[in-house]
Amino acid sequence: MKKFSVVIAGGGSTYTPGIVMMLLDNLDRFPLRKLKLYDNDAERQAILGEALDIVLKEKAPDIEFSFTTEPEEAFTDVDFCFAHIRTGKYEMREKDEKIPLKHGVVGQETCGPGGIAYGMRSIGDMIEMIDLMEKYSPDCWMLNYSNPAAIVAEACRVLRPNSKVLNICDMPVGTLRRISHIIDKEPQDLEVRYFGLNHFGWWTSVKDKEGNEYLPAIRDYVAEHGYLTQKEVDTQHTDASWQDTHKKAKDLIAIDPRFLPNTYLKYYLYPDYVVEHSNPDHTRANEVIAGREKTVFSMARTIVERGTSEGCEFEMGAHATFVVDLARAIAFNTHERMLLIVENNGTIANFDDDAMVEVPCIVGSDGPEPLSQGKIPEFQRALMYQQVTVEKLVVQAYIEGSYQKLWQALTLSKTVPSAKVAKEILDDLIEANKGYWPELN
Ligand code: NAD
Ligand code: G6P
Ligand code: MN
Repeated sequence: MKKFSVVIAGGGSTYTPGIVMMLLDNLDRFPLRKLKLYDNDAERQAILGEALDIVLKEKAPDIEFSFTTEPEEAFTDVDFCFAHIRTGKYEMREKDEKIPLKHGVVGQETCGPGGIAYGMRSIGDMIEMIDLMEKYSPDCWMLNYSNPAAIVAEACRVLRPNSKVLNICDMPVGTLRRISHIIDKEPQDLEVRYFGLNHFGWWTSVKDKEGNEYLPAIRDYVAEHGYLTQKEVDTQHTDASWQDTHKKAKDLIAIDPRFLPNTYLKYYLYPDYVVEHSNPDHTRANEVIAGREKTVFSMARTIVERGTSEGCEFEMGAHATFVVDLARAIAFNTHERMLLIVENNGTIANFDDDAMVEVPCIVGSDGPEPLSQGKIPEFQRALMYQQVTVEKLVVQAYIEGSYQKLWQALTLSKTVPSAKVAKEILDDLIEANKGYWPELN
C-alpha cells in the first residue's frame, strides 16, 4: 500500500497528540512515511513535538517524524495537511466568549459575535497557509477543521476557489455516535441525510444499510433526553457543560419534531437560556485551559522528563478517525459517504447556489460530490439564510476592511438583540483584536 506524508498544522494544538495516536492506530488503513508538526508558536510546538518524538520512536520508528516552525520545511513533500490552528490561541478564545457576555449576549467560540471575531482572525492565517501548502507541495490536500469552519469555508470559496481544501466538522460525527447508542447500532452501519450550515443543521433521515428508518425512534428519545445517551463509551464532549448541551437538544427538537437538530442550534434558538446559564467570569475557554490543555501539556512534559511514554500514554482521539476516513477517501478513491462543508450549487434545491452548506457527500480522489437533499422547509431555510448572510458579510468585511459590513453581520446574527448592542460589542471586539484584524473603515 502507498505510504503518505502528513503535516499537522497547529502542531501545538491540544488535539495534536490525540490525532497522532489515532493515526498510529490506523496505519493499516492509512500508512504513513512521514509525519510533521507545524506551528507558529515554537514553545507549544516543542513541548508536544519532543514528547511525540519519543512516542513515535517507540511505536513507529519507521515513520520519519519532525516538528518545525519553518513553513518551507513543514510544507515540502507533503500529501496531506491536517489543519487545526487557532489564531490568537486560548487567550483570544476567552475574549471571544467574555466580551459578548459582558453585553448580555451569547459568548461562544464559533457562534454569534465570538465566532465572528474568531473568523476575522482566522481568515488571513488560513489563506496564508493554503498558499504555503500550494507553493511547496502543489498536489497536497488540506483537510481543514480549524474554526470557525463556516466562515473559513466561505473565505476559501471566495478567495481560493480552486484550492484543494476540504472543510469538515466533527460535530455531526460525534452526535451520530450518540444517536447510534440510542438505537443500539454502530455509527458506521448508519447512513444519514442532513442539511444545514456548519454548526447549524438537521438530520432528516437515519437508516441502516438495509434501508430501515430509525428517525422516529431516535426522535422519541431525543424529545425526552436530548442526546444524553445511556451507553457512554465516548471520551469526547463529556464535560458538564457539554452534557448540558446534549440535553438541551430536547428543547431544540420540540420546535420541529420532524428532524434531529445539531446541538449548536441552542445558541441561536435559546440565546436567553444560554446567557442565563453562562458565567461571564468563567467560560468554556477557562474550562479547557484548566482541563484539556493542562492534561495534554503536563503529560507531554512528563513523557519528555521520563524519556519514555511507557506508563504515560496520550489518549487517542478515537472520534477523529473521520480525518483518516477523509484522507483515505481522497488517497484510495474509496467513495466514502461523509458530511462536508461545500458550495451548495443546487444540493439543497431551494437554497442559494453560492452558500457554503453542510451536507452528505461521496468523497473520492477528485474530492467531494454532494448528494442532493431536495427542498427544505421555510423555517429552517429562513434561519439558514439569516446565518449564511452573517457569514458572507464577515468575509466581505474582512476583504473590504468594512466596519459597516461587520456591524451588519453582528446586527443580523440571531444571537444579538439590536444594532445598538451589535455596535457596542463590535467596538469592544475591535479593541481586543488589534493586530489580528485588518483595519476597518
Ligand atoms: P489550541 O490553541 O490548543 O491549538 C491551536 C494551535 O494553533 C496553537 O498551538 C497555535 O499556536 C497554533 N497556531 C495559531 N495560528 C497558527 C498559524 N498561523 N500557523 C500555525 N499554527 C498556528 O486550540 P485547540 O483547542 O486545540 O483547537 C485547535 C483548532 O481546532 C481550533 O480552530 C478549534 O476550533 C478547532 N477544532 C475544530 C473542530 C471541528 O469540528 N471543526 C473540532 C475540534 C477543534
Ligand atoms: C465540537 C465542534 C468544534 C469545536 C469543539 C469545541 O467538537 O465541532 O468545532 O471546536 O466542539 O470543543 P471544546 O471542548 O474546545 O469546547
Ligand atoms: Mn465543529
